[in-house]
Amino acid sequence: MLEVRNLSGGYGKGQVLFDMSFSVEAGQAICLLGRNGMGKTTTVRTLMGLLPSWSGEINFEGASIASLPAARIARRGLGLVPEGRQIFPNLTAHENLIATAANRTGAARPWTVDRIYELFPGLHARRTSAANLLSGGEQQMLAIGRALMTNPRLLILDEATEGLAPVIRDQIWACLSQLRSVGQSIIVIDKHIKRLAAVVDAFYVVEKGRIAWSGSADAVARDPGIVDRYLSV
Ligand SMILES: Nc1ncnc2c1ncn2[C@@H]1O[C@H](COP(=O)(O)OP(=O)(O)O)[C@@H](O)[C@H]1O
Ligand SMILES: [Mg+2]
Repeated sequence: MLEVRNLSGGYGKGQVLFDMSFSVEAGQAICLLGRNGMGKTTTVRTLMGLLPSWSGEINFEGASIASLPAARIARRGLGLVPEGRQIFPNLTAHENLIATAANRTGAARPWTVDRIYELFPGLHARRTSAANLLSGGEQQMLAIGRALMTNPRLLILDEATEGLAPVIRDQIWACLSQLRSVGQSIIVIDKHIKRLAAVVDAFYVVEKGRIAWSGSADAVARDPGIVDRYLSV
């Protein structure tokens, strides 16, 4: 579904990504891991067209998207839950969900606000509250719901459990497992490898803008220490 080959990129003249290669099969979930500042967010910004790719290839469903503007990439079906959530603070939870709704990809069973409330029952109770009055966990669920309302073919979550209480993190991972079980393709950036080994199919460790290690979730579940040396500071 997504194939990234020898991708390089960065900000201005500052190169951050060096020959990054990884891929996501349709219906697969992968996790990008790595210490802070290694280039994970830069990778997803480049995939989404929010930053230019300098060289290399980004193929999505058989076509190059490397030089498309961000809006066209979103219409092809890449949906991002950005680091820091970026919800509309002064709109209600309900309005946030409706604001981005679009069946851009012609999904057979498009997401509706009601289905988002089924996925996150807690959000329904808060639907008329301004988004900035929601708890951190509710805001994150809202950010995920908002991305789902665009019916993304590939959903990308950048640090979706950052700063959340363990019980809320578990709810978010349970939601990802549920999405994965109905065939949603997912890229998740997260640090909790033991928990994620039950959610994703493969891990890629990003180190200084390169893929330093990759392997199956089974390999990581058997021996979580296998990636420790890339993650400890
Ligand atoms: N807006 C920016 N302008 C310039 N450099 C940036 C910007 N954002 C991030 N960087 C740099 O790019 C590198 C990778 O950052 P980032 O992709 O955010 O890492 P990660 O998401 O893995 O923590 C870091 O060295 C960071 O300082
Ligand atoms: Mg980041």
